[in-house]
Amino acid sequence: MFSVAIDGPSGAGKSSVSKAVCNAVGFRHIDTGAMYRALGYAAVKSGVDVSDEAEVQAMLDKLDVNVKFDDEGQKVFVNGEDVTGKIRTEQISAMASDISKLPCVRAFLLGLQRKTAEEYNVIMDGRDIGTVVLPDAQLKIYLTASVEKRAERRYQELLAKNENVEYNKVLENAIIRDKQDMERKTAPLRPADDAVIVDTTDMSFDESVKMITKLIKERM
Ligand code: DC
Repeated sequence: MFSVAIDGPSGAGKSSVSKAVCNAVGFRHIDTGAMYRALGYAAVKSGVDVSDEAEVQAMLDKLDVNVKFDDEGQKVFVNGEDVTGKIRTEQISAMASDISKLPCVRAFLLGLQRKTAEEYNVIMDGRDIGTVVLPDAQLKIYLTASVEKRAERRYQELLAKNENVEYNKVLENAIIRDKQDMERKTAPLRPADDAVIVDTTDMSFDESVKMITKLIKERM
């Protein structure tokens, strides 16, 4: 199987670019951020204090997190509930970043992530795919862009969904999340030593898709 790992900070376009590239090359897209978001959703719903690892572990012990794939792509389920459409809010973004710091959470999701990559050609996106989850991926990409550009894209996305937000708040949240994701002890966000760095600050969406599709075709 051919595996592509795409890591990078929030808002770099990992998910949307990965989806489009998957359509072009016929691969399956696995969005690991959605799995962390699903756990963030579960924590919000059950009122768990995510700074208390024992409390989070107790929640995980009773939790079933699963993914399914259909024509629209990946769907994430928490105890049978399809949460795919409910995990893209600013609240869940912050919660996912908080909860993803915990080693017990990372261990909980690792098996699920590796299992989904076993029988298919995949593009898996996240923060530690090239460094931890799929260290033998045939192609590793670190997709990034300036924090201002990423916040702007996220802001436009939220506006389109009629969410009432200010650009400055989105930028502030992006800076906090970057710091948290890059400075945590377990599986911090960083490019794998053998990753190709793709900076999309001045690239259009189509240019990013073309470039990554080309990298995959060359490597195959
Ligand atoms: O990619 P995303 O914005 O949907 O991810 C949400 C959060 O999940 C992000 O702040 C960090 C965490 N995450 C992670 O720690 N490791 C991954 N492989 C994917 C996401």
